[in-house]
Amino acid sequence: MKRRDLLKSGLALGSGLAMAGHSGIVQAAVGTAPVTFPKGFLWGVATAAYQVEGGARDGGRGPSIWDTFSHTPGKTKNGDTGDVADDSFHRWREDIALMTQLGVDSYRFSIAWSRIQPTGRGPANVQGLDYYKRLVDGLLEAGIRPFPTLYHWDLPQALEDAGGWPNRDTADRMTDYALIMAEALADRVTAWSVLNEVKTFTQAGYWDGGMAPGRKEPLAFLKATHVANIANANAFHALKAVNSKVQVGSAYDCANCFPATDSEADKAAAVRWDKLINLWYLQATLTGTYPELLPADRQAELLGWRAGDEARLKVPLDFVGINYYSGWRVWDEPKGNGIPNLNTRAEWAWSPRSIGKSDFGWDIDPPGIHQILKRMQQLTGSIPIEITENGIADNTPPGPDGRIHDVRRIAYLRAHLKELRRAIDDGVPVRAYHLWSLLDNFEWAAGYSQRFGIVHVDFEHGQKRSPRDSAYWYANVIKQNAVA
Ligand code: FCB
Repeated sequence: MKRRDLLKSGLALGSGLAMAGHSGIVQAAVGTAPVTFPKGFLWGVATAAYQVEGGARDGGRGPSIWDTFSHTPGKTKNGDTGDVADDSFHRWREDIALMTQLGVDSYRFSIAWSRIQPTGRGPANVQGLDYYKRLVDGLLEAGIRPFPTLYHWDLPQALEDAGGWPNRDTADRMTDYALIMAEALADRVTAWSVLNEVKTFTQAGYWDGGMAPGRKEPLAFLKATHVANIANANAFHALKAVNSKVQVGSAYDCANCFPATDSEADKAAAVRWDKLINLWYLQATLTGTYPELLPADRQAELLGWRAGDEARLKVPLDFVGINYYSGWRVWDEPKGNGIPNLNTRAEWAWSPRSIGKSDFGWDIDPPGIHQILKRMQQLTGSIPIEITENGIADNTPPGPDGRIHDVRRIAYLRAHLKELRRAIDDGVPVRAYHLWSLLDNFEWAAGYSQRFGIVHVDFEHGQKRSPRDSAYWYANVIKQNAVA
């Protein structure tokens, strides 16, 4: 479909929406005034390698922890794996064509480390490099900014076998990998993100075990946080060493932390949880120090801290990426939770302001994006911010006309974008928004059960892509640089 046609359908959509009356989220977003975004604001879409590429055994790719985890019975919904996913490894040209139709300015994708270094160390696999070079060149030809993330959760399995993120050596392996990628692409890629959601992959991977590699070792988790923070800085230096002009940041999942009750104990617990969720990583990167949380006399031992680490952690990020979805509900837990001093119990995807839930069960809280941006700005100050992810699982099936009228997604996006604009008005220097996601994809432990795409993917019939109503709507937002 031509871009013009997309826009036409997008415009037609607006009128239908007001009548949808689907839920609180739809009503909340209807009837408010249009807002225009600053000139030059970047509109983007996001994906990640293991979630979309497939081609798991193609092009010399080595196994990652997500191959192992998803192939372990009982770890993912329906035993789903990323073996084929959206097959973007073969269909990337089609994906670029879709983005061209949408008119996006920026594509946030990730590089699969084990395509580049199949065992996480040693020389680059030329076929892996060629894939990303072609993708980057294709994006540049289409006038879209290539915005790669070096690490979106798919550690080469061989590095996990050697101890994984709690093993200090992994931070040095990241240096080598970043250097390889910089040498391959730093003449063409101007903006890089190093880690995606360091909090989630360390916590879910090593503490609660719900994601790869599925370990439930709170103390290993603490070590992993420190090693990953050092890896983040190592990659920053490596990318800059090859081209000092590139912009380097990282994508942090930030979320408001709400006390479960009005009790002083729960309020204090929410403050502690905020330190871990929102500060532990970004503060370490920007200042070289951790928030006061662990027992002071044990912190060095618990983190595996070495002399000089303050300088190793600290880098002047060129921008900060923020992923926003929902909030945390936090209780005091005097019995403890495996992390010395933390004493919390926390439930993901909750907000006292919820106006409905996504199909994933996540509370929808549009003002939360404004709140979290203001909160994080206390730390980031004038550093530019890019929204690196925001979006909703809306599994609405095709209607009788064969189209997918995902009114809830449109309402969600509209409400969040308006709150984002309000944050910009209030002085938060946000320069970009990346919608999660361009395509339905492998949603980690939830497999293919949750659909985040503005483009529907038919996993049963050759990964056929069909834009949903939200795709037409988003194309119109981009064209107008405004949200009606
Ligand atoms: C984020 C992840 C992304 C996707 C969305 C829904 O936490 O970074 O890969 O799974 O959630």
